[in-house]
Amino acid sequence: MEFISATVIIILGCVARLLFLRRRNLRGPPCIGGWIPWIGAGFEFGKAPLEFIEKARIKYGPIFTVCAVGTRMTFVTEEEGINVFLKSKEVNFELAVQEPIYRTASIPKNIFLKLHEKLYVMLKGKLGTFSLYQFTGQLTEELHGQLKDLGTHGTRDLNSLVRQILYPATVNVLFKKGWFPTDERRIREFHQHFQAYDEGFQYGSQLPECLLRKWSKSKKWLLALFEKNIPDIKTHKSAKDNSLTVMQAMLDVLEMETNEQKGPNYGLLLLWASLSNSVPVTFWTLGFVLSHPSIHRTIMEGISSVFGTAGKEKIEVSEDDLKKLPLIKWCILETIRLRAPGVITRKVTKPIEILNYTVPPGDLLMLSPFWVHRNPKYFPEPELFKPERWKKATLEKRAFLDCFVAFGSGKYQCPGRWLALLKIQICIILMFYYYDCNLLDPLPKQSSLHLVGVQQPKGQCRIEFKQRK
Ligand code: HEM
Repeated sequence: MEFISATVIIILGCVARLLFLRRRNLRGPPCIGGWIPWIGAGFEFGKAPLEFIEKARIKYGPIFTVCAVGTRMTFVTEEEGINVFLKSKEVNFELAVQEPIYRTASIPKNIFLKLHEKLYVMLKGKLGTFSLYQFTGQLTEELHGQLKDLGTHGTRDLNSLVRQILYPATVNVLFKKGWFPTDERRIREFHQHFQAYDEGFQYGSQLPECLLRKWSKSKKWLLALFEKNIPDIKTHKSAKDNSLTVMQAMLDVLEMETNEQKGPNYGLLLLWASLSNSVPVTFWTLGFVLSHPSIHRTIMEGISSVFGTAGKEKIEVSEDDLKKLPLIKWCILETIRLRAPGVITRKVTKPIEILNYTVPPGDLLMLSPFWVHRNPKYFPEPELFKPERWKKATLEKRAFLDCFVAFGSGKYQCPGRWLALLKIQICIILMFYYYDCNLLDPLPKQSSLHLVGVQQPKGQCRIEFKQRK
């Protein structure tokens, strides 16, 4: 019965939209649907969404609408549409993400809309370029601790090695020093549940939780972990100064602005945002560098010239040291360009004209950083790993290359972008300073299943590491 009434409502909605467009004599972009109501092109799209987008662009042109699982997604792939996505006032970030945020972190829409601006301003301040270098010392210390545990040599799956290093370092810096579990069973549980939550995040953001039992179990496990630990995080005092961690500052905003106890829910979101992209980007950067011997050699020479040749001293990494090693930053940015998020999204709030089509309000406007970064007009020889293309970017003025949109854009661009770059730079410096590394397998292909966030590797890749003498 419920299904029938939902179908009737959807059909009526579609008819109303058609009438709206007809009455105003407006023409929508070409629409890709399917013969099953509501599901639409859902199955085809879901099988390999990245490939679907590119095939649709070739078949239908630079703007097209995909109707799938009750949602209309209008993709823009060329200049005019990209400009509308990046600059128009008629498209809205908060309205586009409120539903996925509700599904993945159980934050009700009204609370999300009320708090978003304040939390964003706080994050931008804490993670912005003025305060960023406060994290350098702590990140270096945490990463040292993790690398020490690797011992003198070994062979590991590169992805799991990166997780082992970055999970604790990130959590201890952003939430509370010493918060990441240290006993083996708890560490294993954390890895297992965070990975399950991360892997299912895309489906969890679209489908009811009852259809995703394993994902839902891990989400609940992580929420319970936060629930138990929030009081501890709140009262923790930094040994060095009185500064608050990012999570503590977040809890302060929540306490001031609402009576709802949503600390665990926002904790879960921060955890996911801070790990889900930076872990695979570190994997791919190490992978790309190690499979380009001349780039690897130049990086090793740079590290030796700044920190000395042998990897025995416990080194500190300063802002000045990082400036002397620009190639490492270019390699990270070139990696992010090649493995950029599948899509970013905005909700259309008023009819907008793009290339003689009218995109109706209610549509999700979609931009694919992954495909924009593969357009040879913007990035010549787009499939090649060419870190030197980043020479042209004025990174000291905090500007990326034109049309680089991996961190989103506009008012709500990723507030963690500078921290992500800093964390990955230090991780790579320490790894290469202490260890001689090489890959034992070819770099795997990227999975085309992920639209939300950067691309994951499709298979295993082993790394061999040996302490430098
Ligand atoms: C290479 C790593 C990263 C990539 C590629 C990335 C990418 C993105 C993208 C594409 C968005 C959406 C922006 C938009 O639609 O305009 C975003 C949002 C966000 N990112 Fe990142 N991110 C990364 C690392 C981080 C880190 C390390 C943190 C945390 C410390 C973080 C925190 C956030 C938060 C909190 C938001 C939501 C902002 C809001 O609600 O307005 N990100 N990120």
